[in-house]
Amino acid sequence: MPGPGLGALLAAPLLLALTLVLSSPWPPWDPPPPPLQPRSLTQELEQRQRDLSTLAASLEEEEEGQKEGWLGCAELRGARVLGLAGAGITKLVLRVALGGRAGGGGEVALKAVHWAGGDVQGCVRRYGHFGGCYRLAAAKLRKEAALLQRLDHPGIVKLLGQCSDISLSGPEMKVVTMLELGNPLEMIQLLQTPWEERFKICLDLIELLYYMANSPLGSIALLDFQPRQFVLVNGSLKVTDLDDVTTTELPCQVDEDCMLEFPTKNFSLQCTVQGKCEGINEKRNLFNAYRYFFTYLLPHTAPLALQPILKDVLNATGDLRYGVNETLRAFQKVLHLYKSGLYLQRKTSNLREYIALKGFHTTDTEDYKCWPSNSHLGCMLSVHNAEEAATICNSHPQCQHFTITPQRTWTGRPLALFQSNLSDLIPGGPMVVYVKRSTASKRSFSQEA
Ligand SMILES: Nc1ncnc2c1ncn2[C@@H]1O[C@H](COP(=O)(O)OP(=O)(O)O)[C@@H](O)[C@H]1O
Ligand SMILES: *[C@@H]1O[C@H](CO)[C@@H](O)[C@H](O)[C@H]1NC(C)=O
Ligand SMILES: *[C@@H]1O[C@H](CO)[C@@H](O)[C@H](O)[C@H]1NC(C)=O
Ligand SMILES: *[C@@H]1O[C@H](CO)[C@@H](O)[C@H](O)[C@H]1NC(C)=O
Ligand SMILES: *[C@@H]1O[C@H](CO)[C@@H](O)[C@H](O)[C@H]1NC(C)=O
Ligand SMILES: *[C@@H]1O[C@H](CO)[C@@H](O)[C@H](O)[C@H]1NC(C)=O
Ligand SMILES: [Mg+2]
Repeated sequence: MPGPGLGALLAAPLLLALTLVLSSPWPPWDPPPPPLQPRSLTQELEQRQRDLSTLAASLEEEEEGQKEGWLGCAELRGARVLGLAGAGITKLVLRVALGGRAGGGGEVALKAVHWAGGDVQGCVRRYGHFGGCYRLAAAKLRKEAALLQRLDHPGIVKLLGQCSDISLSGPEMKVVTMLELGNPLEMIQLLQTPWEERFKICLDLIELLYYMANSPLGSIALLDFQPRQFVLVNGSLKVTDLDDVTTTELPCQVDEDCMLEFPTKNFSLQCTVQGKCEGINEKRNLFNAYRYFFTYLLPHTAPLALQPILKDVLNATGDLRYGVNETLRAFQKVLHLYKSGLYLQRKTSNLREYIALKGFHTTDTEDYKCWPSNSHLGCMLSVHNAEEAATICNSHPQCQHFTITPQRTWTGRPLALFQSNLSDLIPGGPMVVYVKRSTASKRSFSQEA
């Protein structure tokens, strides 16, 4: 992932690294740029500037200066770089501990132009003018900041401040933005988490797409829709890369102009009398959500009774039969079924095979594992109630007893701990332990509840 020069940046002492990112846009080993900026580059820059002005005009004036806790250059001066958070083709993102009064040592993500990245370097190859290419990339960063300022949703990373007058050498407009810090989305890791967690990511995403389809700026499409444009902040999915978006729907004359193309599938949409491809932005986002997120995260290890609904949702989004509204409704229905336990097939009670013993606690010692467990020490799964836990315990050959812990998942379901080793049970404590009757009869438990 790191582009050329990034190694040098990371090898440098932290303060020096920050200075390198924020200082003169020319890498220290590059010759100074030629004085004349090519015409085509100037035109491209002017186009970016116009884009930016249009966005800025829609922003309420003077808003940022008054916002409580808004971060600026002052907070950045005493900042310490803690490490690299990520790098894309345009931007470099650092984990930074803020200095200054307002900073208070809080950690933020700091975005700057990635001058060793593909965007700037490709431009330099085309135009041979580093300064202009840097400005072109900086305009993207500023466009993103302007959008972030205008949009407000839990699914969009929060802009905490920006600084564009770091008083270092060079005539270029230098700009960095400060955002809430997240963790990159690791799809491979996510595949190993419980279904409930993966469902949350998908629900967060569809709620974001619903907001984007009906945003104050119109229907917004992410043109570069990839998992790496998202981060997790405190377990919630947030989009962080907003420089490559459109807020206008594709203009058209005939339906044939409204082709929505993906590598595996094409969709033809309708051209409205107003000359716009109706809903193209919403549909583009939704299909991307389907192909990058839903297909991987939604189906496997879902509760059996929810699988047919999930299959329908996948089929409907994969064929774009559903819009964002219907998809969101379907997700909310799944959430409701899951939270209320309505998905459980009620047959005979399995709990009757267990004795409930009060007044125990369990130790954190290792016991048998299951997959995908909420704890690395043993088998911990979210359940609707003790009855469901009993059914699960019955299905694990090793399971001899279980407890319902006070811990809750994001849906409010308790986590149950399944164990095989009866030595893990320690008398004295608030917990109820459910022990298999067949096991209990071999021992002398006297405290039957
Ligand atoms: N707020 C953040 N917290 C943590 N990491 C982030 C944050 N924003 C971005 N990143 C990481 O930095 C990478 C590059 O940021 P991004 O805005 O996507 O730049 P680019 O426009 O170059 O793709 C992302 O892929 C992500 O891994
Ligand atoms: C993090 O998420 C948890 C559970 O979803 C929530 O209770 C808590 O308030 C969140 N913390 C912050 C700082 O947002
Ligand atoms: C989608 O349309 C493009 C251009 O019209 C065509 O080249 C491509 O083969 C089509 N792809 C599929 C999967 O149909
Ligand atoms: C949806 O289901 C129909 C009918 O079974 C099938 O032909 C189609 O390929 C499915 N689409 C997707 C995206 O799974
Ligand atoms: C989706 O729902 C919102 C809010 O109810 C509504 O404004 C919008 O028109 C709906 N979109 C579609 C495509 O039906
Ligand atoms: C059961 O737990 C005890 C005490 O924690 C431990 O000494 C013992 O090795 C465990 N037995 C098994 C089979 O894990
Ligand atoms: Mg990106």
